[in-house]
Amino acid sequence: MSVFLDNAATSFPKPDAVYQAMDAAMRDVGVAPGRGGYRQSLAAARIVFEARSALARFFGVPDSSRLIFTHSATESINIAVFGLLKPGDHVVSTCVEHNALARPLHLAKKRGVDVTFVPSDSCGIVSERDIARAMRPDTRLVALAHCSNVTGAVQPIAEIAEVARIGGALFLVDAAQSAGFFPIDVESIGIDLLAAPGHKGLYGPPGTGILAVGAGINLEPLQVGGTGGSASTPEPPEQMPERLESGTINTPAIAGLKAGVEFIEATGLEVIRAKESVLVGQLLEGLHGMPGVRLYGPLQGERGAAISFNAEGHDPASLGFLLDSTYDISVRVGLHCAPDVHRSIGSYPEGTVRVSPGFFNSETDIDYFLRALREIIS
Ligand SMILES: Cc1ncc(COP(=O)(O)O)c(C=O)c1O
Repeated sequence: MSVFLDNAATSFPKPDAVYQAMDAAMRDVGVAPGRGGYRQSLAAARIVFEARSALARFFGVPDSSRLIFTHSATESINIAVFGLLKPGDHVVSTCVEHNALARPLHLAKKRGVDVTFVPSDSCGIVSERDIARAMRPDTRLVALAHCSNVTGAVQPIAEIAEVARIGGALFLVDAAQSAGFFPIDVESIGIDLLAAPGHKGLYGPPGTGILAVGAGINLEPLQVGGTGGSASTPEPPEQMPERLESGTINTPAIAGLKAGVEFIEATGLEVIRAKESVLVGQLLEGLHGMPGVRLYGPLQGERGAAISFNAEGHDPASLGFLLDSTYDISVRVGLHCAPDVHRSIGSYPEGTVRVSPGFFNSETDIDYFLRALREIIS
């Protein structure tokens, strides 16, 4: 029996429709979208257009041209941070960010942007009151992850959006662990910049991501180059999405991402979340009762699907190795690209073992994992 429990890194397997859509896009279309007026190129452009529309609909983005395709949530965050911020700007973020946001902010700091990192409680949850206290007249951006990839902690983003709005700042949300798990409507929550990977909860292939850019926000492109149309000027075009999408786009991957989002819509986000929540509950209950096991993050209430733990007398790396080599169970160990979270919850520097079930796991998978862990640590 082989069990994949690292869906917080990348969801696996994907719905069948994702493999089929990618294969068809590669074989039947397989050319650059928007780079030619012939039918095959138009067919590629149609796939990208339909994918953009599907993702815009999914996240409540009113103008789909303001949703751009990227290679990852990391790239989306970099485009938002460096496309927006100037020396002298102030940013409010938190002490529990993934490096995908923490490192761009540290680099921006070196370039003259001031950043305040607001601490969390011991579960990894940040209070909107602390965010409000950190706001200043020169705060240009409030930026944080909706849900933690280490603890599963969920931040009160609607309340924080209101704090940012009152303070006259833009709100950037890293939805890497929440897109495809929690409903996200950028307009009703008040999110100005939404960064999400395509390859986790949206079931697209690795190497996909999106950034939704609110109306009236003009980001400087991180890279410039060919955009298909508007070729005569030395400057990149003003219009979206071309302004932020230079270079030939990965049509087969985007076809897969479109099929992933359509799978969520056809299945129902609430059905997906309900199933994953059952598996999370089963894991929390099983781990909670195990002697010597310490769980991190919220044990009840609203949480994401990433669960971190340590077992007394076993370092995370050897536990992960034994689970893989003896039981064929894939989990992630260590810092999970988020060292600041471990400093906040008390698991630095060794990190944790992280289990993250997905929609295609079963209760039998979780039973098997819990049995394997019990055998290893007993
Ligand atoms: C909270 C969080 N932010 C950002 C990322 C980066 O996502 P990507 O690999 O698509 O760049 C991850 C990936 O694990 C994540 O968990």
